[in-house]
Amino acid sequence: MRVAVIGVGHVGLVTAACLARWGHDVIGMDDDEAKVESLTAGNVPFYEPGLQELVTEGVDGGRLRFTGSRTEALDGTEIAFVCVGTPGLPGGAPNLAYVEQVGVEAAQYATGDLILVEKSTVPANTGVRLRQVIQREQARHGATHTISVASNPEFLKEGSAVHDTLYPDRLVIGAAIPSVAERVRDAYQPMLDGIGDHPAHDCPVVLTDLQTAELIKHASNAFLATKISFINAVARVCDLVGADVSAVADGMGLDQRIGRQFLYPGLGYGGSCFPKDVDAFVHLASSVGYDFKLLEEVRAINVGMRDHVLDLLRQELWHVEGKVVTLLGAAFKPGTDDLREAPAIHLARALVAAGATVRIYDPVAIPNVDKLVGDLGVVTFTDPIEALRDAHATIICTEWPQVRALTPADFSGSLGYPIVIDGRNVFDPATMVAAGLHYHSIGRPRGGPIPDAADAPAATTTMP
Ligand code: UGA
Repeated sequence: MRVAVIGVGHVGLVTAACLARWGHDVIGMDDDEAKVESLTAGNVPFYEPGLQELVTEGVDGGRLRFTGSRTEALDGTEIAFVCVGTPGLPGGAPNLAYVEQVGVEAAQYATGDLILVEKSTVPANTGVRLRQVIQREQARHGATHTISVASNPEFLKEGSAVHDTLYPDRLVIGAAIPSVAERVRDAYQPMLDGIGDHPAHDCPVVLTDLQTAELIKHASNAFLATKISFINAVARVCDLVGADVSAVADGMGLDQRIGRQFLYPGLGYGGSCFPKDVDAFVHLASSVGYDFKLLEEVRAINVGMRDHVLDLLRQELWHVEGKVVTLLGAAFKPGTDDLREAPAIHLARALVAAGATVRIYDPVAIPNVDKLVGDLGVVTFTDPIEALRDAHATIICTEWPQVRALTPADFSGSLGYPIVIDGRNVFDPATMVAAGLHYHSIGRPRGGPIPDAADAPAATTTMP
């Protein structure tokens, strides 16, 4: 098939590269000229494991090319995947202006019948509005091609985006006309059947209407965010009763209806998706008359985890003003250099505002950290031991393998004060405490005997 991908950011580029792998003739379009130039030379402008190889394979094989021209992208194209940004606006609604713009351009530049497929995460009913825009524009220009709209939400995770796209759990495709949804499924047929060295991956395919497909995406992300906030709330209770949240999550997760995934407590969820999508879903529900209070609480619990970790730090340090605090990990999760809504960046800003000197270690995201918070006076490191040297305390923010590989002796031998706040529950509390570290994690006993209630330290902060 002749396929276009409009917008080659994280989702768009992975989609384009995978479609090329499945043998389609793919053209990626983006307004960012520098990005198009870099991709045409075969260089991926961000970090995503396995993507560089896939892009090189597609470009060298002549199945993947890039352009800044809409006319070129839409010329002879049968299916165009819309992967443009939908950034959050103040108030929670996503900005759908770029999606609308693609509809206007499709009506102007399509040279034959076209299916426009929403891949960007959009609220329910976006497809209906998109169809209206296209019809109006076509009427204005006297265009007669059939331009249909479908929704095929993306479920990839940054850091495993290529694998998630090549081997998805399911495909969801929605359209008002079933034959349109089926034609979109045809684009995935090589993946389902297997092609070349790509084995058959016969995952379930959900064919549905437009609004339902759009809603499946928002509901999925909101549910996963809810799972994370739920276990974070449980972790707070575990701290108060002396239970171990890891064992609680293991015990819960063995129930197949619950499952163990996404029950890892810590600093909470970040990234470009969950925070924005939860806001957008709350906004959508409210705009149609439903007050989604559950998701508002999910959001509040998530933000509260950062405050909780700062409270743990203050319990140890008393004041943070004038202290040196090392954040281990900056990216919102391992396997990416993405800092959008990264808990570490929120912590860095809060600590700098409170007068601390902040150091940040990250194995891949340091160039982005320098760009984002370099002006705050944050000092950056690509060696964790150097970052820890003589610091008053450290907070583990991202569970990179390089952070997991640190030993208790690395902490006790490098830190000025032996204070470790583990915001990702990476280390074993008993081992860390036995090594003489003042170690705190999220929802797990501290390693020594659990103190009697009367001896227990106050759970609240000892801030002045
Ligand atoms: C998320 C979804 O997992 C994807 O299915 C979806 O396609 C994507 O959003 C999207 O809408 O584009 P992503 O944001 O890349 O993917 O990252 P996740 O692996 O889901 O992690 C999100 C955040 O939750 C991270 O900050 C992670 O540290 C945190 N998390 C995750 C936890 O705190 N606890 C957990 O148990 C799991």
